[in-house]
Amino acid sequence: MKILSVVGARPNFMKIAPFSRAIKDYQETHPGELSHLLVHTGQHYDDAMSASFFESLGIPTADINLGIGSGTHSEQVGNTMIEFEKVLLSEKPDWVVVVGDVNATAACSMAAKKLGVRVAHIEAGLRSHDMDMPEEINRLVCDTLSDLLLTPDRFSSENLSSCVRAEQKIVFAGNIMIDTLEANKEKALALDSKALIEQALYADSQKEKAARIDIDSDDFGIVTMHRPSNVDDASILGGIVDLLVEKVSEKLPLFWTLHPRTASKLEDFGLLEKLVVAKNIVLLKPLGYHELLKLNALSSLMLTDSGGLQEECAVLGTPCLTMRWNTERPITLQEHGGPSLLVGNDPEKIYAAFEQVLAQAERKPLRPELWDGQSAHRMLEAIINY
Ligand code: UD1
Repeated sequence: MKILSVVGARPNFMKIAPFSRAIKDYQETHPGELSHLLVHTGQHYDDAMSASFFESLGIPTADINLGIGSGTHSEQVGNTMIEFEKVLLSEKPDWVVVVGDVNATAACSMAAKKLGVRVAHIEAGLRSHDMDMPEEINRLVCDTLSDLLLTPDRFSSENLSSCVRAEQKIVFAGNIMIDTLEANKEKALALDSKALIEQALYADSQKEKAARIDIDSDDFGIVTMHRPSNVDDASILGGIVDLLVEKVSEKLPLFWTLHPRTASKLEDFGLLEKLVVAKNIVLLKPLGYHELLKLNALSSLMLTDSGGLQEECAVLGTPCLTMRWNTERPITLQEHGGPSLLVGNDPEKIYAAFEQVLAQAERKPLRPELWDGQSAHRMLEAIINY
């Protein structure tokens, strides 16, 4: 059997690492039965957004890089389909495995299906029901086309059960992100906090502020944000910046790790300088996997619009204010026992929730069913037994 798996953007790398390791384990015990090629579409290409994750998570270098890069959604999806189709025609895989919900996920599942190649989707069935999210469109396309729908939780399986066709198969296999978290927790926790912050400073100007925070014993929060709905509009982003500078960071020092999209929007809107000089906000470059995991495990608050971080906060028990009005990961929400609270991007609502979290200050880790660090093996087994 020949499997071709695809990655494109940062959140894909944490999902493919355990899957490629599961394949390697299988190849060792069943020589000659399985071959594997890893394709990187090249949607994320900076070292900090891509190469550093391959290195630190032990992902084998991609066999093929399509070099797609940045662009509009249609440019990314269209160019990926054109280039990926060539790979499919020359490599003739039995299966294409796609992960998550980025443009590469939708583009490659579509190119594969049009050539009659079977598709397995890792992280199938998530739904935000928000058609303004590019990721929701990608999920719908990919889940409609996939032969094998590998779901991370029971909610996702339920979302699919009413709309799958007879030839499609849903397998509840667990959350593969947590395989990565479990495999890397020890290494992350052993990192030197001070050194990791020093290396990640966005600019020298942040050094003095950073030195005032002893992250091993002080309370601090982490901010990450990159969704177009939060960062592409000057008044929305400006409102969040004001809230963080004037109110939140007055009570809790913050580390803000800047996604490239967010950094360029802050600069375009003239907001970056305000943060550079804010006395209790330390700006950081995009962090590596272990670095962010270490900070997350120590922090008393996560303020984020990332889906993956909501899941990691659930397992670590970090109180998480999710800067969205909806989530495709309801299992992480407080009403289902998780630490995440939806606060959207309304400064008043964020601040009210922030005060609530400050008062509670207690970690409540959650371990949903099959978030046990063993998902990748179940996924590979499902593909082999299909
Ligand atoms: C993509 C995913 C999103 C995921 C996020 C994680 C889609 C539709 N979205 O969004 O689901 O949560 O990745 O980061 O696939 N850039 C760089 N260097 C890079 C990559 C991007 O500077 O290595 C800049 C470019 O200016 C680019 C911008 O970041 O225009 C946004 O990148 P893009 O790939 O379009 O989408 P993300 O917002 O990162």
